[in-house]
Amino acid sequence: MTTGAASGAPSVGTAGSGTAGYGTALPGAAQEPARQSPAPRARRLLVTGAGAGIGAATAAVALRRGWEVAGLDLAGTPLAEAPRAGGADPAARPGPFPILQCDVADEDSVERAFAALDALWPEGPDAVVHCAGVYRVTPLTETSAAAWDGVLGVNARGSFLVAREAARRMRSGSGDRAIVLLSSIGAIRGDDHEPSAAYSSSKGAVSSLTGQLAAELGALGIRVNAVAPGVIDTAMTTLTDDPAAASAFFAQRVPLRREGTAPEVAEACVFLASPEAAYISGAVLPVDGGQSVL
Ligand SMILES: NC(=O)c1ccc[n+]([C@@H]2O[C@H](COP(=O)([O-])OP(=O)(O)OC[C@H]3O[C@@H](n4cnc5c(N)ncnc54)[C@H](O)[C@@H]3O)[C@@H](O)[C@H]2O)c1
Repeated sequence: MTTGAASGAPSVGTAGSGTAGYGTALPGAAQEPARQSPAPRARRLLVTGAGAGIGAATAAVALRRGWEVAGLDLAGTPLAEAPRAGGADPAARPGPFPILQCDVADEDSVERAFAALDALWPEGPDAVVHCAGVYRVTPLTETSAAAWDGVLGVNARGSFLVAREAARRMRSGSGDRAIVLLSSIGAIRGDDHEPSAAYSSSKGAVSSLTGQLAAELGALGIRVNAVAPGVIDTAMTTLTDDPAAASAFFAQRVPLRREGTAPEVAEACVFLASPEAAYISGAVLPVDGGQSVL
């Protein structure tokens, strides 16, 4: 991990050196040792749902930017083996970045995963992009209360738990800190083709949570935003299993006439997680080919 003053960091100049244009040292004055600015360290991004789809694409975009990335996913490395997956030395990580096993719907699992992450990043992440989520298509009359709770548990409760653990670490930090949640066009548009009341409601909760947390955490310097994808080509999408239905859907309902890709959503996630979005908080950004304006 890159910390502290690094060799090669530019000097801020030495009084009397004659190069900074601030005058000449008095005769006999002691030369101050050169002071060095600490080299900027890489931004630290935690991605949930990092094992697939939009989460994996978000990690890939951030890695290409030189950020440090860690992930959480149901399909991650068991915490008992976490020291081998990360530890204090990022060079010891297997693969491009560590993914720790975590069920975001489970409070204990989320707390333990963040505690394991503390070993890697004692000061916490600079940004979190929370992509872990599930999609279920079930007509209302066939939706059990348990199925409803399952979807709300991962998507809504999971967003709350991940944001809470992130904020507990970010609140004592400095510089730009950001939480990005994943809402959906389902939060604002019903779908007669794919009935998904629990999913839509869970994403409505995510959009509401985004506004509330932006209001609550802004004074701590933590920005909170959400990305609201339309139909994106990942394992989660079922529409594209039926090519005829898919092409009719895109022709009628999506101005750009196609589905989106995971990297296209990832770019928006990384932008909102980056200091380039320093004055954006409380936004729910559609990434849907224009679907939400029809
Ligand atoms: N794909 C789309 O069309 C679409 C549209 C709108 C919103 N979204 C949202 O974007 C996010 C990412 O979706 P995706 O398309 O990449 O899905 P995906 O199914 O491709 O990937 C989801 C990832 O989340 C992980 N995950 C699922 N449940 C988890 C849990 N309880 N704890 C930890 N990890 C868990 C999975 O293992 C998987 O790696 C989701 O929140 C989804 O609701 C997707």
